Amino acid sequence: MPPDSGIALNDGEILSVRGLTAAYGESKVLFEIDLSAKHRQVVACVGRNGAGKTTLLKSIAGFVRPRSGSIMANQVSLVGLKSYDIARMGIKYIPQDKKVFSDLTVRENLELGSYATGDYDWNRITAYFPKLRELMDRKAGYLSGGERQMLMIGRALLGRPKVLLIDEPTEGLAPSIVAHLKDVFTELSRNTALVMVEQNLPLVCAIAAKVYALKEGRMVAELTDRESIRPEVCERYL
Ligand SMILES: Nc1ncnc2c1ncn2[C@@H]1O[C@H](COP(=O)(O)OP(=O)(O)O)[C@@H](O)[C@H]1O
Ligand SMILES: [Mg+2]
Repeated sequence: MPPDSGIALNDGEILSVRGLTAAYGESKVLFEIDLSAKHRQVVACVGRNGAGKTTLLKSIAGFVRPRSGSIMANQVSLVGLKSYDIARMGIKYIPQDKKVFSDLTVRENLELGSYATGDYDWNRITAYFPKLRELMDRKAGYLSGGERQMLMIGRALLGRPKVLLIDEPTEGLAPSIVAHLKDVFTELSRNTALVMVEQNLPLVCAIAAKVYALKEGRMVAELTDRESIRPEVCERYL
């Protein structure tokens, strides 16, 4: 076992959510959710708007505190940890709203990521996203949606995360950028587990080894074989 992988994993699982229940005030949003990802596995979560997908990722990332259930990463419990401590453990969350520091340049945004992680190896990031090289001095507020997503992902890759939690990365992006991101995700999964929320079913089915369907806060399907990981099957659970 490589030295940085910590204690022995249950069948290679790097992330394991069991019986997760979450709520905003009185309104329950997630009910007894189970989800797991192995090392270097691409796992996708699909579901309609309001199903609870974002809340699920936010719970793992430490932005929503679960009411009950467990969230384990490398057999360490994440429940109750601060979001920045979870990030420091190598579990990076890329939110749906693509928030960057608009008044800062791309370079400055990356510098913040480097400062937080001690990882200054930007060549790795610009190898995935060559476009970022030309945009270094542009203020992030002036980036297109696709460029902003590249910056978000690029910044999240600093520190070499073990798990990437990505919320609707291709929402509103041009097909050419979606195709590029698909290649990037496939490449990233050589080193990192990806847990993504995504509505683009052809993309999901092309890259995910496991697809969860969430409906009204409940997991209604877990598809794990090639036969069932197809858009027309996923659609049945939406
Ligand atoms: N901050 C919040 N406060 C109260 N309710 C929220 C909040 N965020 C989301 N919700 C509600 O929780 C439910 C699930 O939302 P969300 O997790 O964003 O779903 P999805 O990402 O699948 O669209 C929705 O009914 C939504 O209105
Ligand atoms: Mg959402």
